[in-house]
Amino acid sequence: MEALAIEGPTPLRGEIEVAGAKNSVSKLLTASMLTAEPCRFSNVPAIGDMEITKRICQALGAHCTAGAAKQLDVQTPRISVAAVPESLAVKNRLSVMMLAPLLHRHGRAVVPAAGGDRIGPRPVDFHLEGYRRMGARVETLDDVYYLESDGLKGADIALPYPSVTATENLLMAATLARGRTFIRNAAIEPEVVDLALFLQKMGAIIDYHADRTFIVEGVSTLVGATHDVMPDRLVAASLGAAAIASHGDLFVRGARQSDMLTFLNALRRIGGGFEVQSDGIRFYRDGALRSIAVETTVHPGFMTDWQPPFALLLTQADGMSVVHETVFEDRFVYVHELQKMGADIEIYDTCLGGQTCRFAASGHRHSAVIRGPVTLKGAEIDIPDLRAGFTYLIAAILASGRSVIRGVEELDRGYEQIDESLRALGAQIERIDA
Ligand code: EPU
Repeated sequence: MEALAIEGPTPLRGEIEVAGAKNSVSKLLTASMLTAEPCRFSNVPAIGDMEITKRICQALGAHCTAGAAKQLDVQTPRISVAAVPESLAVKNRLSVMMLAPLLHRHGRAVVPAAGGDRIGPRPVDFHLEGYRRMGARVETLDDVYYLESDGLKGADIALPYPSVTATENLLMAATLARGRTFIRNAAIEPEVVDLALFLQKMGAIIDYHADRTFIVEGVSTLVGATHDVMPDRLVAASLGAAAIASHGDLFVRGARQSDMLTFLNALRRIGGGFEVQSDGIRFYRDGALRSIAVETTVHPGFMTDWQPPFALLLTQADGMSVVHETVFEDRFVYVHELQKMGADIEIYDTCLGGQTCRFAASGHRHSAVIRGPVTLKGAEIDIPDLRAGFTYLIAAILASGRSVIRGVEELDRGYEQIDESLRALGAQIERIDA
C-alpha cells in the first residue's frame, strides 16, 4: 500500500493540462469492439482505470497498441470469449458495458457484477431491463449476469432515471439492433454525447431530442473510426476548486467552458475567480468566498462528481452553505475524514436547500450543512472513493501541518501522475509506503 505525505499549506500555481476523460474513454473502447475494423483514439489518459478497461477488452479479443503522444489503436477481429474475467470485473464498472459487443458479436455474455466507487448500491437493473426489452434472455445467478440473444431488436425503453452508463450501454446495443430504438428519459451528459458522436463516425444513426430521448436507427454493420477523447471535466473542476481553495492561480489547459457551465456559475456565485480562454480556463482566488445552496443532479445540472471538491471549497467560504446530493445516496462518505481535519460539516437524511428528491425517505444522509471559513489541520486519512480522494489532497494542501493519505491506488484510477503534477504546481507532496 502506498500513501501520499503532504505538508501544507501551499497555494497551487502554474499550468496543468487536463487529460482525456476517464468516463468517456472507457465507453469509447467498448464501442470500438462493435466492429472488426481498426479504431484509433487520441488524447488517451494514462490512468489506472484505462489499464483495467484495456485488460477487459483484451480478455475478450481486442488488440490494443499504444502509439506515440497518447494514441491508442484498438482492433477486435473476433470475440470468441463470452465471459468477462471476474478478477477484472470487480475493479471498475466497465464489465457491464461489454454486453453490447458480446451479444452482437458472440450471442452470449457472462458478466460478473461490477465494482467501482463505494458511493451507493449502484445497481444495473436499468441496463438489464433494457436488454430484456430488446429481446435478450437475461438471468442473474450468484451476482453474475448471463445474457443470450440471436439478434437484438429495436425497442421503446423509458429509463426510470437518466442513468449515464445505462444510456450508454443501450445506445451501443441499439446501433446494431434490428429496427428503431427509443431511449427515453436518457442521460445527456457530455460523455454520453461524445460516445454518440463516435458511434455516428462508426456508421450508426443516432438522433437525440431536447426531451432526453435518443432515437437509434439500427444498421447492419459498423466500421472503424478515429476519435479524440474529450477532456475530463471532473478533473478540470477538481483542479479549479484546488486553485481557488489554496489561494492559488492555475491555468487548466484543455478545460472546456461548454462542459462546465453549471460549475462555473456556482464558482461565480461564491466569488471564485475564473477566466475562460481559447485553450483552457484560468482559476484563481478573487477575495473572500461566499456561501451558497447547491444541489447535484443530472446534466445540465451541477454534477455529482463536482460535489466533493466543491464542498471542500465551501469550508473556506463565509457563512453557512447547503449541499443536497440527489444522484448517489452515499456520496458524503468522505465527510468524516474532513471533520477530522477540522471541517465544520454536518450531514442529514433530509432534503435540504432544494427540491425533495428520491432519497427523501431512504434514511441516507444526503444533505450537508457546511460552515466556514475554517482553518484545516493535517491528519491521517483513508480514501473511500476516487473523487473523495482528490478532495482529501486539496484539503491536505490547504491544511497546516502534515497529512498522510492512504489508498492512493484509488486516486491513480482517475488522475494522471497526481503527485508529480501537484508537486510541479507547488504542493509539498511525496509518495511513501503506508
Ligand atoms: N441507477 C439505478 N439502476 C441502474 C443504473 C443506475 O438505480 O441500472 C441509479 C444509481 O444507483 C444512481 C443513479 O441511477 O442513483 C445515477 O447513476 P448513473 O447510472 O448515472 O451512474 P453511473 O453511470 O454508474 C457514471 C459515472 C460516474 C458519475 C455518474 C453520474 C462512469 C463509469 N461513471 O456512473 O462517475 O458520477 O455517471 O454522472 O461513467 C467517477 O468518475 O468517479 C464516477 C463515479
